[in-house]
Amino acid sequence: MFVRLLTTCLLLLLAGGLFAQEVSDATRAKDARRVKALLRLENVDLDTLPEAQTSLLRYLETCRGTDEYITLVRRFKLRAAVPELLQLAADKGEETIGVEAMKTLLDFGSNDAIEKELCGMEEAQALKLLSSLRLAADARGNALLMTLVENSERGMPLRAAAVAAVGRNPAGQHLLLLLVEAGTLAKELNFSAANALLSSTDETIRTAAGKHLALPVTADTKPLPTISEMVARTGDAAAGKSIFATTGTCLNCHKVRGDGKEVGPDLSEIGSKLSKEAFYVSILDPSAGISHNFETYTFLLEDGTVQNGILLSQIDDEFLVRTAEAIVCRIPRDAVTEYKKSAVSLMPADLQKALTAQNLVDVVEYLATLKK
Ligand code: HEC
Repeated sequence: MFVRLLTTCLLLLLAGGLFAQEVSDATRAKDARRVKALLRLENVDLDTLPEAQTSLLRYLETCRGTDEYITLVRRFKLRAAVPELLQLAADKGEETIGVEAMKTLLDFGSNDAIEKELCGMEEAQALKLLSSLRLAADARGNALLMTLVENSERGMPLRAAAVAAVGRNPAGQHLLLLLVEAGTLAKELNFSAANALLSSTDETIRTAAGKHLALPVTADTKPLPTISEMVARTGDAAAGKSIFATTGTCLNCHKVRGDGKEVGPDLSEIGSKLSKEAFYVSILDPSAGISHNFETYTFLLEDGTVQNGILLSQIDDEFLVRTAEAIVCRIPRDAVTEYKKSAVSLMPADLQKALTAQNLVDVVEYLATLKK
């Protein structure tokens, strides 16, 4: 009896589900027709068409995260979609759809919403949102980006990414140049600013920037090409693999498929995570690309010693710290006068000194092959 009741209930539930599905299919078809009709009209005022508006909103729910969603939001100027657009720009900041979401936000004049979102986000997410702004290369984002560039409360990776983003358009390059000329740009941002300004298509900007900024010199005593120039080159992955293990000294700190030491992140699958551009930033300006979980801590000990390293754990009465030499040190808690997270990466910032530009291009080509 009980079993039969249960079966009946299940059947009813199933039928209910199917029925609901049928209705929603029909509604969806109707919604799709109405949306199509709306698209044919010019100068639509949705407020005068409540039924069509309801259909449109319901239809949008079914195509979240697609190009069609953005097209419709844009076409009908649906400002209620701002939170969804912000989400898309952050989740897919390096894809066309994320960039389109960002451009739509700028069309809507939603700069305050973008800024608020950036303020509230964790660094990793904020970096993704910044990617969409950088790739949009749209001067309308400059003011909010400059606020970030100058905000000393935010981490260097975020500020460096803001420099790269603002430096993608000529108006932004002018703004950066003003800071550089006034000497008010934080020096940790010089590398990003040099890359942005020295790769400007405007010769006057390049010349003016060249008076204050230079890219670091490589093993053959030539200054590095800009990151955008190196990204455009093709390297030799096999040569890169051997440089990684020898002159590059990378294997002293990174593991790749079992080889190497683990001061920094394991790079076995790094090609699936970073773009070529991001590789160059990670290698040449490590403090601008510090990866999560690998922040350096500086410990000031009672006897005056300073110890830098990556904090592995804090257990009981001691800190466990991995140094740049891949040594794990135990530091007794009561020997520590002070400790703090450092803004500087444990990865050396002058690795290019031992490498030529071509070596770097080869190493990056190699890293890009390390995929899942
Ligand atoms: C002294 C140790 C050290 C050396 C040498 C070193 N790295 Fe690193 N590397 C690190 C640390 C620590 C991090 C994590 C902190 C950061 O992101 O800056 C890191 C981060 C990276 C990242 C970013 C990884 C991610 O998940 O975002 C890349 C890429 C990288 N290193 C490549 C290289 C290459 C290529 C070389 C050689 C040319 C090299 N490293 C040499 C310590 C080192």
